[in-house]
Amino acid sequence: MVIMDKPTGAWSGRFSEPVDELVKRFTASIPFDYRLAEFDIKGSLAHARMLAQVGVISPKDFAAIEQGMAEILAEIRAGQFEWSLDLEDVHLNIERALTAKIGDAGKRLHTGRSRNDQVATDIRLYLRDAVDRTLDGIRACQNSLLDLAEQHANTVMPGFTHLQVAQPVTFGHHMLAYFEMLDRDHARLADARKRINRLPLGAAALAGTSYPIDREFVARELGFDGVCENSLDAVSDRDFAIEFAAAASLIMMHFSRLSEELILWMSPRFGFIDLADRFCTGSSIMPQKKNPDVPELVRGKTGRVFGHLMGLLTLMKGQPLAYNKDNQEDKEPIFDTVDTLLDTLKIYADMLKGVRVKPQAMRQAAHEGFSTATDLADYLVKKGLPFRDAHEAVARAVRAAEINKCDLADLPLDELQAFSPLLGQDVRAVLTLEGSLSSRNHVGGTAPDQVKAAVARARGKMASAGR
Ligand code: ARG
Repeated sequence: MVIMDKPTGAWSGRFSEPVDELVKRFTASIPFDYRLAEFDIKGSLAHARMLAQVGVISPKDFAAIEQGMAEILAEIRAGQFEWSLDLEDVHLNIERALTAKIGDAGKRLHTGRSRNDQVATDIRLYLRDAVDRTLDGIRACQNSLLDLAEQHANTVMPGFTHLQVAQPVTFGHHMLAYFEMLDRDHARLADARKRINRLPLGAAALAGTSYPIDREFVARELGFDGVCENSLDAVSDRDFAIEFAAAASLIMMHFSRLSEELILWMSPRFGFIDLADRFCTGSSIMPQKKNPDVPELVRGKTGRVFGHLMGLLTLMKGQPLAYNKDNQEDKEPIFDTVDTLLDTLKIYADMLKGVRVKPQAMRQAAHEGFSTATDLADYLVKKGLPFRDAHEAVARAVRAAEINKCDLADLPLDELQAFSPLLGQDVRAVLTLEGSLSSRNHVGGTAPDQVKAAVARARGKMASAGR
């Protein structure tokens, strides 16, 4: 990006000395808000079309504005537009370029409008676009999770609580847990979109405007669901951006947890999975290393997104109505949140496809942790023993197996019967991993049949919901 340094402020008529160089740099937003250019032009065109419609500007002026904006947009897209620090922000840069091209018609564009409602409109258009791309990104990750869940509906792994082996689950069931988290993330963002998608234009600086504007027309032109109902609110609040940052934080939190698991599972101590080489890096000193850098970075970048949420909340909390320059500080955190989020979703949708599961290691780990002990207790309960007594009997059996360095299933029946005479031949089936899994056969349970049914339901829901 080229940033020029030309001496001409847009509001210099009011002042008797040029602005201090440092102050100029301090107050300018063009180094980052140039990213709003496409949305700024879109908003300006809708505003100009409306002005022509209600007769505030002539059709000829509007035609010139349309033509000039098309040229500017082409220059921006080609990277040929010269952004000037003296013109402070994206709005003044584009307006000045327009006037340079078409003269007085360009100067009429800002009629009935202020940069305050202009920037609020731009940021809403930007965020709406970001939300739509995020929603698609979430769906892509959900599809990758469903593919894994389907492939591994029967793959046994230890389920953990306190990171200690607890009960057997399937890897497919584990993947479906993340599917559910992302499903709520999707719903949350789709809901936030409703509040983002309202038109601030017409609020002007803060109180509205005396021109006979048609706000509904502009809203329709820009695809907004309606107009912001109060002009002071329209230019000053950024709660919709905070809501986006909160939804983004929850998404990152979920991916951070999944990242933590992938990192643990890839460690040779677990050895449950391998990640495709293209998502890992080596070490410059240790030739044997393959490091899960991508999940580690997702876990790390989650911190900056949480930080942006806190930054935006803090930015807003002390501001009196209506617009204050503080709000210019909303952009960098919003942009960085969107960039981090979209990269994470894109990488994850692909990385999940490259997860290679090692079923033998998972099964081995499930065996080692007495993961069917609860099944044994449940078996005794079904034979009439009160649960607390069953718990006690099985705990003693586990201790015996531990001393013998074997699994519960490896203890001979007569030894098991020492812990409870209720134990019969049929206990063998209960102690197997497969027996444990298939007994949890209800909606939300880990039985392979339930996992397959859940995948089918999820696919149906995704297909019918679209975005
Ligand atoms: N660059 C400003 C921002 O991002 C645009 C609005 C400026 N309005 C004003 N009255 N100074 O918020």
